[in-house]
Amino acid sequence: PASQRIADLLGRMTLEEKVGQMMQLDARNGDLDDLIVAKHVGSILHTSPADLPRAVETVNTKTRLGIPLLIGDDCIHGYSFWPGATIFPSQLGMAASWDPAAVQAVGRATAEEVSATGVHWTFSPVLCIARDTRWGRVDETFGEDPTLIGDMASAIIKGYQGGAKAGEPLARNAILACAKHFAGYSETQGGRDASEADLSHRKLESWFLPPFERVAKEGCGTFMLGYESIDGIPVTFNHWLLSDTLRGAWNYQGTLITDWDNVGRAVWEQKVKADYVQAAADAVKAGNDLIMTTPQFYDGAIEAVHTGLLDEALIDAAVSRILALKFRLGLFEDPRLPDERRIKEVVGCDAHQHLNLRIARESTVLLSNNGALPFAAAGKRIAVIGPLADDAQNQLGDWAGNSGQVTWMPDGQPRGMITTILDGFKQLAPQGCNITYCRGANIIDLVDDPEGAYFPDGQPRPKLAVSAPVDQRLLDEAVDNARQSDLIVAVVGDVVQLVGETRSTATLELLGGQNAMLEALSNVAHETGTPLVVVLMSSKPQVMPACVIGGNSVIVDKSAADGVSAFLWAPSPGMKGGQAIAEIILGITDPSGRLPITFPRHAGQLPVYYNQIRGQHGNRYADLTQDPAFAFGEGLSYTTFDYGEPVITNTPTCGTFTVDDTVHTEITLTNTGDRAGTEVVQLYIGDIVTSYSWTDRELKAFRRVHLKPGETTIVAFDIPVADCTIVDQDAHRFVEPGEFEVLIGHSSRRTDLKRATFTVA
Ligand code: IFM
Repeated sequence: PASQRIADLLGRMTLEEKVGQMMQLDARNGDLDDLIVAKHVGSILHTSPADLPRAVETVNTKTRLGIPLLIGDDCIHGYSFWPGATIFPSQLGMAASWDPAAVQAVGRATAEEVSATGVHWTFSPVLCIARDTRWGRVDETFGEDPTLIGDMASAIIKGYQGGAKAGEPLARNAILACAKHFAGYSETQGGRDASEADLSHRKLESWFLPPFERVAKEGCGTFMLGYESIDGIPVTFNHWLLSDTLRGAWNYQGTLITDWDNVGRAVWEQKVKADYVQAAADAVKAGNDLIMTTPQFYDGAIEAVHTGLLDEALIDAAVSRILALKFRLGLFEDPRLPDERRIKEVVGCDAHQHLNLRIARESTVLLSNNGALPFAAAGKRIAVIGPLADDAQNQLGDWAGNSGQVTWMPDGQPRGMITTILDGFKQLAPQGCNITYCRGANIIDLVDDPEGAYFPDGQPRPKLAVSAPVDQRLLDEAVDNARQSDLIVAVVGDVVQLVGETRSTATLELLGGQNAMLEALSNVAHETGTPLVVVLMSSKPQVMPACVIGGNSVIVDKSAADGVSAFLWAPSPGMKGGQAIAEIILGITDPSGRLPITFPRHAGQLPVYYNQIRGQHGNRYADLTQDPAFAFGEGLSYTTFDYGEPVITNTPTCGTFTVDDTVHTEITLTNTGDRAGTEVVQLYIGDIVTSYSWTDRELKAFRRVHLKPGETTIVAFDIPVADCTIVDQDAHRFVEPGEFEVLIGHSSRRTDLKRATFTVA
């Protein structure tokens, strides 16, 4: 058994070899081969097709024990670093599908592609809760709700790991998943990345930990830590979080990895450790196994053991867990080198492109429609306008070979795999339909960063993105085009320079000439009666101008948005996004995405998530409504649905449920329109009176339901009473006896929900 082989190996390893196993280094480091030999490096990331077999060969031929390398990479929505790999919608886009089965299939497809290239492990998924959307990594999350995040994360992990549970061997076409960033990294200050997180244990237990607890118990192979601190302790050194909670209370048997140079940053950046010896000792004591890209860890940990600061038994425990991963992957028998035949067969294959189109369709959210859509295009002229209408790179979003880490776009990327929105219209336009295109506006200019060097080794910081000025020539051209059309499709959004790690934004407004362009086009639409459809293709919710969402910051008046006929959001929709969007506008596909995150009307509303703690009368602004532009769960179809009244069908004879019961609720759903369509039925639980301040309602379950015109069905949910918890002042989760509401309907807005009640004794 693996445990015996691990014990045997450990018994034969020197302290240096053991510490080397704990090191994960950047494969782009020029000295990698020397480091593998001299420092016994156990793991690498960001490897290239050429470096990977060479590194494996170095281990096999030049190291004493030939312990296989563990190779990880950021395969975030597809294999980000591999030219020609299938790039799916971002994680936020996938969440907008509210379709865990499709997301599991994405995980499976990604694992097929990644495993063929010789990589064993993806640093995905992200389980952070996105509340302050100025944060640069909102696109990497599954949104704002712990239940949606838990369901999506669980699904994609099953896909990545091929269903393997804790400790089970991974099939040749499966990869290890990594739940990150544990925990609370997204709870930033002002949206700024890697800032101190202000998180009480109660807040962690209420929303931030539950999705992690779920995937820890379901056997997610690895966990990655965040960059932030909790209660003054960077999570890398947080014994309570790593050892007491994750490994202790949750009995997690998997392997932990730090984020990029977390251990080094504690010394040179955060200055919470005096030197690398202390930092290495404290990182191991807290419960870390693999240390990402901190070369100083090697000497630091060895010295810490020699000086008695660190018990070697803790190193042994960490190395055992790392070796266990290598045994699960079967690397001692088969190093899983790149497999040219499988690469040709699976990377970017047709089946994955079909899946990609499915998830792109399901993740596009129709947020308003005055009846202009679907558009009957035969014989009509469509003006496709906007800086993102024909922009392959920004359509893919961050972590798609263009995120600053590597650049394989556009040269390395077969452009033909990507359907932009303009491509989509050209491909799908019916006979006699004429498509024109113009750019309309610029978004950003790149300027030198006045704050200068960013990386400690003096590497220059990437250029800063600033809002571009309005270009009158582009604007005039857009207006001319719009005047000559029967449908105006305006495509706006953000760009990858404003997305990702270290790239948070102070504002959520559309940058450059985009607002001026929308204003001018809405004036044309107003004057001519030509419908204007606005497509927001962005990494995260943006603040849209009044011509799109109506009203002003204080008064919400959607009827005022009469300049715009329809508004769609496509969150970084991936390679097939342009086809999906064109299909939806032309009525070939019914829109079925729903918001996994709230759309603010103004950045000053942040955080504006739906499940806020109930406050008192002053919990609002004098100059700004608290009503968001669009609420969590919203999204339209081309048909209409009618909900009956929810009925709890299993009320116990004594009238009250206990914590061991399940509440069975049924609701009738009817497609009342004349088209087939999909509704996402959402179930929220409200705890009517709570002894501790709590939220008004929390999502507990949801279901995608497809109905033909006129068709009726009964949608049933079983909610364990044990899930209807609140959290007390000592961060204990419990069910408080009393009256509860089951709220079922179309979105998180109370006005969209039908109600039944039950009592727990
Ligand atoms: O996996 C990522 C992490 O999410 C952010 N920092 C760098 C890691 C490796 O690229």
